[in-house]
Amino acid sequence: MKLTPKDFTLEQKFKLLTGKDYWQLDTSSGKIPRFFMADGPNGLRKVQEVNGEAPNTGGKNATVSATAMPSLSTIANSWNKELCNLDAQVIADECIENDVDVLLAPGINIKRTPLCGRNFEYFSEDPYLSGTLACAYVDGAQGKGVGACIKHYCANNRESFRFHQSSEVDERTLREIYLTAFEMAVKSKPWMVMCSYNPVNGVFLSENKYLLTDVLKGEFGFDGVVVSDWGANTSRYKTLLAGLDLEMPFNKNAFDNLKQAYEQGLISEKDVDRAVQNILNMVEKAQTARKTRKVEWNKQERHQKAVEIASEGIVLLKNENALPLKSGKVLVGTPNGFAPISSGTGSAKVQTDYVTTPLWKLLKGINGDKVEYDWDGYQKSIYERGIDYDTILLCVHGAAEGEAYDRDTLELNYRSIDTIRKVKKLREYGKKIVVLVYAGSAIDMSEWIDDVDAVVYCGFGGEAMDEALAKVLTGKVVPSGKIAETFPLNLESTYCGSDRSDGFVEEYNDRVFVGYRYYEKYNVPVLFPFGHGLSYAQFEYSNLKVEKISETEYNVSYDITNKSNVDAKEISQIYVSDLNAMVARPVKELKGFSKDLIKAGETKTVSVKLDKKAFSYYSTVYKKWHIENGTFEIMVGASSQDIKLSSIIKIELPDHTQNTKEIVYC
Ligand code: GLC
Repeated sequence: MKLTPKDFTLEQKFKLLTGKDYWQLDTSSGKIPRFFMADGPNGLRKVQEVNGEAPNTGGKNATVSATAMPSLSTIANSWNKELCNLDAQVIADECIENDVDVLLAPGINIKRTPLCGRNFEYFSEDPYLSGTLACAYVDGAQGKGVGACIKHYCANNRESFRFHQSSEVDERTLREIYLTAFEMAVKSKPWMVMCSYNPVNGVFLSENKYLLTDVLKGEFGFDGVVVSDWGANTSRYKTLLAGLDLEMPFNKNAFDNLKQAYEQGLISEKDVDRAVQNILNMVEKAQTARKTRKVEWNKQERHQKAVEIASEGIVLLKNENALPLKSGKVLVGTPNGFAPISSGTGSAKVQTDYVTTPLWKLLKGINGDKVEYDWDGYQKSIYERGIDYDTILLCVHGAAEGEAYDRDTLELNYRSIDTIRKVKKLREYGKKIVVLVYAGSAIDMSEWIDDVDAVVYCGFGGEAMDEALAKVLTGKVVPSGKIAETFPLNLESTYCGSDRSDGFVEEYNDRVFVGYRYYEKYNVPVLFPFGHGLSYAQFEYSNLKVEKISETEYNVSYDITNKSNVDAKEISQIYVSDLNAMVARPVKELKGFSKDLIKAGETKTVSVKLDKKAFSYYSTVYKKWHIENGTFEIMVGASSQDIKLSSIIKIELPDHTQNTKEIVYC
């Protein structure tokens, strides 16, 4: 029987709005069934329950063992919607096995500064790529019968001062950059949206009626449950009135706050019932899903999927005839004897019991050649030993990345840089130096990039990291990843630089010029541009056709030829440039992409459809997305700075839809 708010006492309803413990809804003494939420974007992170109670994770409260999947930043580097969907399916499979109803993922915040500690949990600096992958992820989880919760809504782009620093963002920037991924993802009907800790324009998100009710629920049409980030609550009755349906985790103050507010007439039962109904609707979705959902894979099968996903997230940034590894002797070095880091820390960190095999052993198993491992510092220096090998692989990582703190440098850690400085001399003896970067976000490589023959950006591949890497290094998998965020020359050349705001207000004065939009507008050189990634194959682009479907819809098709003798995947990107807007617009913006397997010697015709959003900007005058008549350039690129083909189109919408571009009478 379908429950309605009338089936509950007022007290029961207050409890329903404030949670039972750290991870569960209150069940009103069994009136509603168990409803369990758990992190996270990179795999299931679920506390071990004790007598039906679910305390906070961490400390003595162990979490269940689960498959440590690649980070969302690594999945974004694959640009593969199907693999993103599969990733969410794998995590959902473990949610089902562990009796979880909602997965608190994906995180879809935009990477405004590469220093943000949680960038490894997010997809990209580009809203379109983020939103597209967010939909794939939500569809993957919910298709398995596990709810998704897109987060952290919104403009939560740093970890420092995240609990109270207000993001000061103008309306157009909010709409075009920080809300677009949420607006797109809402179309996949996630069960939940998690509001962020921070205020936006001076009002905490948890009580920001404009963003929660007017925009998210009103304009975007979100009809699920808005949940607070854990502890992101100001005053429960105010957050209720703003549109926050559920506050987590349980805290008694929230219950008392609602009770007093009701008694004082500050909230009505109607206000309460609106939120209760949203929660009951979600509980019903969960109950329906529980009837048919089932575990599909075992641990080994999930692990194999993690390997497949991780391997497509690996990006070959530089390669001067060093990869794939051919026969010959290989020395694998880790400058400070670290075990490769394959994830960031915090609520996205997954406890896996998978026993990984060291990279050098995996390589030995594939190539069979003499592959040895040097734990520099405990044996002869890697430089002295390196003279006896043909290729030296250096495993390096950057500063720690994780929730609740931001990096303060983009550089590798000192020992990694120091080892590269030492080992580079081996190039004089014809040795190949290959740097393997284990990181979840952009790394400043400027100091040493010219001293090495190849750079592989491994990402945070989770438990499958080294297995995926071994396949790519030996050519069993041809690298197909492309970076979903710009790699700047150095921290100083980024917009935010090393500036830290005062902890009270951060002014987003870069406006819509974020990521590649910033570097291109101000002609700031970068190390590797958004969308860059090499292959072992060579691709040729040709035969661009732009077919008009309507005044604001076009079908873009083009041919890609694989000129090599290896089958490989290529990510082609569609950018649009508004050539005569009356507002400041980025030089170009990503509005479509395709990832295609193209066999050796094959020519494949790729088609991408552009809808009206591809040409629009958000007008704060018309308070909606608006297309200005004029000429637009449609570009096809292998990266944002490697444009292969382009074509000019002219859009001429009826005059009454347009603002006039010049004074008619004067
Ligand atoms: C954390 C994170 C959020 C996570 C939640 C539950 O503070 O911000 O991403 O889902 O709390 O752990």
